[in-house]
Amino acid sequence: MRIDAISIFPEFFDVLDISLLGKAKAQDLLDVKIHDLRDFTDDKHRTVDDTPFGGGAGMLMKAEPWGQALDLVMTPETIVIFPSPAGELFKQATAKEFSQAKHLVFACGRYEGIDQRVVDYATSNAKVRLVSLGDYVLNGGEVAAVAMIEAIARLIPGVIGNADSLTEESHSDGLLEYPSYTKPSTWRGLEVPEVLLGGNHAEIAKWRKARALERTQQVRPELLD
Ligand code: ADE
Repeated sequence: MRIDAISIFPEFFDVLDISLLGKAKAQDLLDVKIHDLRDFTDDKHRTVDDTPFGGGAGMLMKAEPWGQALDLVMTPETIVIFPSPAGELFKQATAKEFSQAKHLVFACGRYEGIDQRVVDYATSNAKVRLVSLGDYVLNGGEVAAVAMIEAIARLIPGVIGNADSLTEESHSDGLLEYPSYTKPSTWRGLEVPEVLLGGNHAEIAKWRKARALERTQQVRPELLD
């Protein structure tokens, strides 16, 4: 998969070189290119922002650097993702959908956002999605993009060594994951549940399903609707 990200803070994406994603990049399972939006300005100060028409607090990102940057990376098959608290909620199903794409572009805004015409222009030239990480406001799209890239990339075949671990985790079956334990079986007076020590796989599966349901009911009951 090819991923381009456009940002005024390219260094936010350095973490993609760590751990499994770093390995996936090294093995060419993942081709990531980060672009500095300021490289697409043509004034001495490399200006990317300006005041909003109609007034209001803060600054907006100007359309032209975005137009130039998108023209470089966007094709009609590209999914251009604008991380935004005003977007659709990013879920495991969204990660799964995006993991099947050939090319993603993350357009990371800062300040009070990006001139709307950039989104409209991208919509005329590619597939566009406004996507929110959750119901809170970050200072820009970079942290959201990095989180989304990790959630997406780990679903690409070959990125996670043991593919079985993808089927038994939270949200893979609509439930939160059951609690897990490792050795020793007694730690500071706390015991591992007896059923997990017995080796009866049917009983273990039943116990895990019950704990997953119980946990989901307690903390995220809306997932059961
Ligand atoms: N940019 C600012 N806040 C955000 C959020 N919650 N999700 C995605 N992008 C954002």
